[in-house]
Parts: sequence; structure tokens; C-alpha cells
Amino acid sequence: MCGIFGYVNYLVEKDRAFILQTLVNGLSRLEYRGYDSAGLAVDGDKKNEVMAFKEVGKVAKLKELIAEEKPDLKRVFDSHAGIAHTRWATHGRPSRLNCHPHRSDPNWEFAVVHNGIITNYKELKSLLETKGFKFETETDTEAIAKLAKYIYDQHPDIEFPVLAKAVIKELQGAFGLLLKSVHYPHEVIAARKGSPLVVGVKTAKKMKVDFVDVEYAEEGLALPAEQASQNVALKSANSLLAPPDKSLLHRSQSRAFLSDDGAPFPTEFFLSSDPSSIVEHTKKVLYLEDDDIAHIHEGSLNIHRLKRDDGASNIRTIQTLEIELQEIMKGKFDHFMQKEIFEQPESVINAMRGRLDVENKRVTLGGLRQYISTIRRCRRIIFIACGTSFHSCMAVRGVFEELVEIPIAVELASDFLDRQAPIFRDDVCVFVSQSGETADSLMALRYCLERGALTVGIVNVVGSSISLLSHCGVHINAGPEIGVASTKAYTSQFVCMVMFALSLSEDRASKQKRREEIMEGLGKISEQFKEVLKLDQSIKKLCEKFKDQKSLLLLGRGAQHATALEGALKIKEISYLHCEAVMSGELKHGVLALVDENLPIVMILTRDDIFAKSLNAYQQVIARKGKPIIICNTGDEEFPADKTEKIEVPRTVDCLQGLINVIPLQLMAYWLAVGEGLNVDFPRNLAKSVTVE
Ligand code: F6R
Repeated sequence: MCGIFGYVNYLVEKDRAFILQTLVNGLSRLEYRGYDSAGLAVDGDKKNEVMAFKEVGKVAKLKELIAEEKPDLKRVFDSHAGIAHTRWATHGRPSRLNCHPHRSDPNWEFAVVHNGIITNYKELKSLLETKGFKFETETDTEAIAKLAKYIYDQHPDIEFPVLAKAVIKELQGAFGLLLKSVHYPHEVIAARKGSPLVVGVKTAKKMKVDFVDVEYAEEGLALPAEQASQNVALKSANSLLAPPDKSLLHRSQSRAFLSDDGAPFPTEFFLSSDPSSIVEHTKKVLYLEDDDIAHIHEGSLNIHRLKRDDGASNIRTIQTLEIELQEIMKGKFDHFMQKEIFEQPESVINAMRGRLDVENKRVTLGGLRQYISTIRRCRRIIFIACGTSFHSCMAVRGVFEELVEIPIAVELASDFLDRQAPIFRDDVCVFVSQSGETADSLMALRYCLERGALTVGIVNVVGSSISLLSHCGVHINAGPEIGVASTKAYTSQFVCMVMFALSLSEDRASKQKRREEIMEGLGKISEQFKEVLKLDQSIKKLCEKFKDQKSLLLLGRGAQHATALEGALKIKEISYLHCEAVMSGELKHGVLALVDENLPIVMILTRDDIFAKSLNAYQQVIARKGKPIIICNTGDEEFPADKTEKIEVPRTVDCLQGLINVIPLQLMAYWLAVGEGLNVDFPRNLAKSVTVE
């Protein structure tokens, strides 16, 4: 759960100031992925020298450190490879030592940055220690650099990708990694298995082709087959000593960036965990797939596969990013979270654009079209997700049950895996994830694929693992979400899933009226979001009430229980105020004991067909002298202004009301955190993309 960034320039003169700035800038865009320490490695002043900078804390601290250490910023590099990392600790506490890049030896012969977990690092470490390597850190990553050196020392003539393949074959777990070496100056290896990695390409001339061929190693060309065991390190240290065949590489048209006369021309490559950190340099990107080993050298990019004929596509298309730089900048807002809350009128429109046709009462989800009839025939639909994405699934469970009339289950990915829940070939499993990289969700997806279920991905990040691995799906098109607390992704997921339910129920005559009502509701939702957002300043004021409070209760019933859960999560994660969401119907079964005149309570009491039941809970609270703040529909006479403190929100179709109701809670979380002077976009202990179990 970290961010990695690399920059390679070939025949493009750049001074060290530019290289450092590019790497630091890339890291600051990735900071949402982890921010307990940051580091980078670039070439030193002498041949075969590496200059590394590492600092605990955010990327700004790394920048300060570089300024203090005063490297020669004017030194010009005609060709150069630099790698960088922003960390969210998994193995080893945040410290300078544990901060990436990690090295093979004090001379930095090999330097690596890594996102993910190497699960067999202890075995690798033990092996390498017996070979005389001294480990300096508590991380799993260090083993990668040392393993590279170990293999290199046995075969100093080995080509970089052959070496990389030999290393990667030994790694178990999940990784996106960049490897740099003084033995292969200006070259970089980028490899992924389970963690995202994207390559941006910037060339002086128009590219000749818009794809890169994957190169397959011929059988037996890399390390001999018997060494390709899962855990060779444990079996025999000596197996790594056998000579690899250097003919692994054949140059193909993956030298996509050559000029017409075949000569290399100036090229820059940007490698990153997330395309949003590349877009300011180039919009031409290529997404690596699991088991890809990309080799960047002399202005060309070659992609090799770990295994031959493994069924993967042999083309990696160079795609054009559709995000704009301003989308990943804060603009007039103080925080990304605030910007993203205010983007919701637009992000929901983007979720529906080209999909919802209110006039003709049609929903078309291109990514599902081929599968809709199969899904209609399934035995059940299981939604699987984590955190906020799980809440969005909870929020739409009712509308799916109502429209689709197929049994619906909503599962937390981690719990689903812990239970090893039974999954069958006629199940449809829907994976909802903003990042598309959440480890628990990804593992649950693999689990369901293994059992033959049809899998659907509902994700924001294009090219993410969930979107690549699922059979079909919908991109929610919310645009980059940078704030660690998810806001616009929630409402866009919600809208996409409602459209999914509408699409599935298209063939049901009895549901047509209701479907039309919901479509009309969706058509108006963006304007209603704009209305709710006008409450911003009054909510800010209201939040002063919660100053110095220790706890807050959030009550909702039916679909609004999901809203309460999501609101409570937002409040907890960024304002650190304990906040508990309670299903109103459960109040009398225990939680009511907490209620008195002092406990802050927020109750969601917008109109729906269980409104009368929700009112019971309200009465129970009032009877215990509770003074709840009410979220209700505008002008609802049930709650006279002189008797109740209320947040009035526009009314929509009951099953969409949660979309509107969540926004005051997002704003509440935001202003509570700001009021406490907390770092809204980077809450402590959290990272945007949770790529560990
Ligand atoms: C909370 C939040 C997290 C994520 C969760 C799943 O604001 O953002 O709870 O929702 O980690 O992440 P994705 O949706 O990327 O799978």
C-alpha cells in the first residue's frame, strides 16, 4: 500500500534538479497511497554511484531533506533512470531505514522500490544471510535487491530482464516494483503481480505504433525449468547459480518508439502506481498486467512474461488518458476531500453519461450488455466490497431486491474470505471498489473466479486489477479520487449500481412504472446535489456543537442504515471522533441505554415507506430527553423548526434518497476534521488504496 514512481530519460538532456523535481512531484501525487515516509534513488556524481534520499513523513519532508543535502542540481544527464517511493508501513515501522528505495549492498548495486508484500521474504532472507548478505532493514523489500545482487554476482554477463525474471520467479506475494542497477545504467525494470503499474511514454516524434508486443521467453531459455519452483530459496540455494540462457531476449516491435530510420530518438518514460501522477507529463500510457516484466532501455520498452503461453494477451495497447491535470489539482478548494464532495453534481452526471436516457426510459451499460441475460438467470447476486464501497452495496441492496427479485447478499470481502463462503458456477459476484486494487476484494474476486462464478467489477480506476480480472463491469467514471476518505466514488458507485438494477429489470413489465420513476429521479439528482451542497456553511456552524464531544450516534433505518454507516465511517476516519451508526429498529434492543440529554445524536428521517417506524425511534430518543439533529426532507411539517434542529434536504425517490442524505454527513465529517485542525486528506494510519490483507 504504497506509491511507486520512476522517471527515465533517454537522449533528452535533463539536469538533476529536473529529475529530482519530477520524482518528488510524482510522489506527491501518489501520497494518498501512503505517507509515512518517502525516498528516491538517482545517479550520483561519479560513475556507478547512486544518490539516495530517504525521509520519515510526507513527501514535503523528503523535499526539505534534498534541499538540505544540497546535491549538485545543475549536473546534466543525457540519459538517466530514477526511482521513488512513498510508503505506508506494512513490514517495519516508519523510519528512514525502512523507507524505500532498498539496496543490495552499501554501494547500491541494485536499488528497488516496491508496493505490496513479499510473503516468502523470511525464507529469502535466511538464504541470502547464509550467502553473507547483511540485512539492514525490517522490510520484506530488501530481499529483492539482495536477491538481484546474489544472482548477478554469479552471472555478471546476464542481461537485465533475464536477471529480473530470475528474481521475480522467486517472489511470492503481491508486488509492483521498479529495479535500477549501476550495472545497467539508465535502464529500469518494472514488474507487477497484484499491484498496479502503469508506464507513460513521451516522445519527441509521433509514435509509430500504438501497442507493445509482449515477448515470450522460449521454453528453457531463462533459468532451467527445475529451478522455477515456487520456493527455490528454501529448496536449494545452489539452484540459483545455474547459468541462465542469455538468448531470452529478442528485440521485436516493442521498440515502438523508434524513428523511421530505425534510430532511437529522445524518449521519456514515467512509471507509476497510478496514471493520475503521469497525466501532467504525457497522456500516452500502457498498463502492465500481472506477470509482465517491462524493461526500459535505450529509449525502448520491452515487455516479457514470467511464464510462456499463460493465456495472457500478447498486446499491451498504448492508451490515451482521459483525465485532465486540473482534475487532480485542488483548484479553489482547501482539500481534495472538499473538492471531491463538491464535484458530486458533476461526477454523478459522468456516471450516467451515455448510459441513462431518461426521455426514452432506457439504461445501457455497455460493459455488461453481453452478460445481462446470463445475470438474469443466476441463482443469486453477491456484492463483495470493503469500507465505503461495502456501504454503497448496502445502500442499493433494497432496490436490487425490489427490481430484480433475485436473492441478494452483501459481503465484506475480508469476512467472506475468512468464512470461505460457498460460491457456485451460477452465482454472480459483483466487486465494488474505487481503486480496483483493494487486496481483500481482489482476493475475493480470485476466489470467485476459481469457483466458476460470473464476476462483475464496478470500479473507478480504469486498468485496475479488479477491472482487468472481472468478466465484465462498469467504470463509475468519478474521476481521480485523491482524498483518502471516499466521497464522490460512493455516490457514483450507488448510481451505477442503481443503473445495473434498472438494466437487469428491463424485461419485467410489472416493474416498468417504478423503473421510470427511478430513472426520472436519477435525471434530477445532480441538481438536487447542488441544492444540498448549499448547506455547507450551515453544517460547518452546526459542527461547532460537537466540539469536545467524545462520541456521536447516527441513526437510520432501511436504506438509510447504509447512509448512517457511511456517515459514521467518514466522521471516524477523518475527525477521529467516535461515531456509531445504529439501525433505528435496533435502538430499543440496547443502544437506547446510551441516550440522555448530553449524547450528540443525528437521525436520518427523510420520507420513505418505513418513515412511521423511523419516527418511533425518534420518539424513543425524545422521551429520554435526547436532542437529536434531524436530517429530513425540506419543509417536512413533522419536525417544526422551533422544536427541532434540522438539516433539510430535497426529496427524491425513496431508493435514491441515500445519495442526497450522505452529502450533509460528508460535509459534517469534513468540517469536524477541519475544526480540529486535522489533516483531512491524509488521516493518520490510513491510505487510499489498501493493497494488503
Ligand atoms: C473510506 C474509504 C475506505 C475504502 C475501502 C475500499 O473513506 O475510502 O473504506 O472504501 O478501503 O477501497 P476501494 O473502494 O478502493 O476498494
